[in-house]
Amino acid sequence: MALNLKDYVASYPNFPEPGVTFRDISPLLEDGEAYRQATDEIVNYAKGKNVDMIVGPEARGFIVGCPVAYELGIGFAPARKKGKLPGKTVKATYGLEYGQSSLYLHEDAIKPGQRVLVTDDLLATGGTIEATIELVKDLGGIVVGTAFIVELMDLKGRDKIKDYDILSLIKYN
Ligand code: PRP
Ligand code: ADE
Repeated sequence: MALNLKDYVASYPNFPEPGVTFRDISPLLEDGEAYRQATDEIVNYAKGKNVDMIVGPEARGFIVGCPVAYELGIGFAPARKKGKLPGKTVKATYGLEYGQSSLYLHEDAIKPGQRVLVTDDLLATGGTIEATIELVKDLGGIVVGTAFIVELMDLKGRDKIKDYDILSLIKYN
């Protein structure tokens, strides 16, 4: 029987700052069955899209994207924060629910025309995913979908990426 994945998300009011309710997927990751179910749902989504590469933003996007890439037998490119990637990179800057940040991707991470699935643990304002999409597009990749474990509907992140297909496994208002 399928698990109700929402049972595996912990909610922390006023973290990391007053007014923000932090939705923590740690319990889901710590439960082998729940982590597998979430991964399988994203793998099945990706199988319908003929994906060549997965790209995920640091840090929690790695946790979601890497097992999907492994299962599909395709590559994973990490979009990393400032000062982490050596060599030539492309850069995108974005605003967050709390703060501002930049993401970088190796210039040769994606070949022009490759079909890319972008993954992250959570869609909030959409700034992170929008920046990750921008990096992929800069390199000539085609973003064929986006996949998240959690979506915070109130923050309307999906409005920022309305040109792209979205899979989210758990929704909060
Ligand atoms: C969190 C989360 C998403 C992003 C969602 O990452 O993992 O990547 O925020 O917010 P947004 O839709 O408003 O952009 P965070 O920047 O806190 O980094 P972390 O994964 O390294 O904790
Ligand atoms: N990233 C951005 N907003 C978040 C939230 N409310 N909970 C967990 N991760 C987040």
